Amino acid sequence: MAGNSNQWNNNTAFLLAATGSAVGLGNIWGFPYKAGENGGGLFVLLYIFFVITLGFPVFMAEVFIGKKGKSNPVSSVENLAKASNSSKGWSIIGYGGILASLIIAGYYAVIAGFVINYGFISAGGVDVGAAEAIYTSEKANFWEMTMWFSIFLFGSGFVVANGIDKGIDKAMRVLLPMLFVLVFAMVGYGAYAGDFSKGLEYLFSWKAEDGITAGMIQGAIGQAFFSLSIGMGTLMAFGAYMPNDQKVSKASGVVVTADTGVAILAGLAIFPLAFGIYGAQWSPDAGGDTLVFVTLTEAFARLGDLGQFVGPLFFFLLAVAAFSSMISILEPSVAFVTEKLTRNPTKNTRKIATLIIMAICFALSLISVAGHNVWADKSLGTLENPFEMMKYFADDFLLLLVGAGMSIFVGWRLQNVVNSDDMGITNKGFMNLWVFVLKFISPIFLLGIWVLGNLDRIFEISFF
Ligand code: PFF
Repeated sequence: MAGNSNQWNNNTAFLLAATGSAVGLGNIWGFPYKAGENGGGLFVLLYIFFVITLGFPVFMAEVFIGKKGKSNPVSSVENLAKASNSSKGWSIIGYGGILASLIIAGYYAVIAGFVINYGFISAGGVDVGAAEAIYTSEKANFWEMTMWFSIFLFGSGFVVANGIDKGIDKAMRVLLPMLFVLVFAMVGYGAYAGDFSKGLEYLFSWKAEDGITAGMIQGAIGQAFFSLSIGMGTLMAFGAYMPNDQKVSKASGVVVTADTGVAILAGLAIFPLAFGIYGAQWSPDAGGDTLVFVTLTEAFARLGDLGQFVGPLFFFLLAVAAFSSMISILEPSVAFVTEKLTRNPTKNTRKIATLIIMAICFALSLISVAGHNVWADKSLGTLENPFEMMKYFADDFLLLLVGAGMSIFVGWRLQNVVNSDDMGITNKGFMNLWVFVLKFISPIFLLGIWVLGNLDRIFEISFF
């Protein structure tokens, strides 16, 4: 049980840990390539719209469950279900979150492994025109990929094994300031060396003929939830360590703003640089999710000697962001197993729990690596390989379901538990609006787009 000994010992710890969690590969690798694939401005606008209307309210709901439930994601939900005379079955939300977190950990470590590898590759110098071939050959190498992801996975496991204050809080205090300095440095460099106005225009304007599709909406919501770390128990787990007097709304507002800010800054670092180097006719959707590994690596190569400095700096930034997120991805399942192993967990129990989780994640990461090479041709619907399947099943399938479940649980079942003191919302109108969104808007929207998106992606049936 996350009792007093397991509480953040100050009010900034939650902010740092949750921001470190939120700001990750999703912001710097995911957001720009998805914006690029979806044509830029309109997707960015949809993204911001869903962050405010769905992301922020559901984010608060998740933190609230943790803060009140005071335990791992499963037990927190169980505690609150009991307090509100609801069925124990609601704990499926917690289990769903933990399942999502394990799958995400499995593929996240593999992308982060790529990032570390690319730090070295770009430091060593890349010949102009060689980026595509390098990516193809790196992807094909099962054992090398396994080595890189293992370094990343076990490194983050080490921090998590050391607990809340000594491990996570301490790491975040170093990682987060570093991350912000690096992001601003990259934006500055993009503005200096690239075509800033073209990048800006691409990210914030759209043409009347740009249509909205169901896939785009699901993509924008899925990306918003993933980027905000919603729906897999991390925010519940971190919320459980929140001091009693910390207010959910304020803390959530800070994290949501920081996360969205970094996603946009990442776009403002990457697109101006790419437009500047490739020319204004460059089409950002060409590379899909290889935007960072191929397009940017090629861009760094074209910078000559300077690229050998800017490239590694960029990949270092990405690795730092990924590391602080990975810690948070592991926390829900480690907290759960720690508390399941014994009623009175000691430091050693947490270490054993971390080892168990590491073993599961390692196996899942191997599948994800295989999706890049030996199993690259095993597809399902539009999902091209097991790596894509894992990503899809966690991000677009489970996160939206768990998000809807949390909304419904807090909105409909916790009416008597929700209070303005914990939330820090004194205005009655705002409080009612929040509950209204949780009760109606977010479940209807999330479940609706979940059905349409799945029909589209798995069965290839699309309505718009
Ligand atoms: N928000 C992280 C990112 O943008 O990379 C990823 C993530 C962390 C997702 C923690 C979910 C989570 F619970």
